[in-house]
Amino acid sequence: MPDENVRFKVEVIGDIAIIKPPHGAKPDLELARRYGEELLKSPSIKSAWLAEGPVEGPYKVRSNLVYLAGERRTETIYREHGCSFKVDIAKDFITPRLSYEHLRVAKLVRSGEIIVNMFAGVGIFSIIIARHSDAKLVHSIDINPDAFEKMVENVRLNKVEGRVLPYLGDAANVVEERLRGVANRVLMPLPDLAIPYFKYAVDAIDHEGYVHVYLHVHASKGEDPEENARKLFAEHIRNAEKISWSFEASRIVRMVGPRFYQVVLDVYVKKL
Ligand SMILES: C[S@@+](CC[C@H](N)C(=O)[O-])C[C@H]1O[C@@H](n2cnc3c(N)ncnc32)[C@H](O)[C@@H]1O
Repeated sequence: MPDENVRFKVEVIGDIAIIKPPHGAKPDLELARRYGEELLKSPSIKSAWLAEGPVEGPYKVRSNLVYLAGERRTETIYREHGCSFKVDIAKDFITPRLSYEHLRVAKLVRSGEIIVNMFAGVGIFSIIIARHSDAKLVHSIDINPDAFEKMVENVRLNKVEGRVLPYLGDAANVVEERLRGVANRVLMPLPDLAIPYFKYAVDAIDHEGYVHVYLHVHASKGEDPEENARKLFAEHIRNAEKISWSFEASRIVRMVGPRFYQVVLDVYVKKL
């Protein structure tokens, strides 16, 4: 493989390789195609695509994929923590970089808990929780019709029918109409809506419980991304009525750009 190829990053989802240029760089299509063909020499890779930019839009999908080599398809089976997920890399959000976080949250779940996952995608968090904990129920919401369809299939594929319940719709509406006061734990794995939708997470909580809030924050040299996330959250939530809350834990989930981080805050909430 030519040395110049090291400029690309590769993400493998099932048997599909997604090639990405480094942050901000303009992709060289011919070079990417040659790299895609090299990757297809591995028996586990059947298809290669170039991702020309970051995930975008309300569904957080790669709408800008360019076909490079191999089978011309975007659907595959992605495996994580002993579970299998049907996913379309062009229509659904998917990244293996949340793998540790999926299991971390599953391990926090106590026997009999009821969970609301407000932004569930194809159901990865929800199904891993159902398979790796004694949760009673995971209400699992997504607004993307294709992700919802895959989530329904993935529930069947992983034999968690009746324990993971998929909903299609805006999490705000689904919570207000069907899930007020049901949850011991709420997941908010969508940084764009973590703060504006926090009030719906609180509405979903029973008398008390945990909310996992995912945020994107910048941190300059010498700054602590977790501290910045705690400050950002506290500034917006300070005046929340009728609850007391405290930080239980926080961690950097992943880097999403230069000095730009995804951070999770585990927040304990008690209704007054
Ligand atoms: C970052 S992805 C979720 C990641 C997923 N939980 C995982 O672990 O792979 C965010 C998801 O939120 C969904 N979404 C966006 N706006 C929404 C809304 N208002 N209500 C419910 N889901 C929404 C998107 O369709 C997308 O699937």
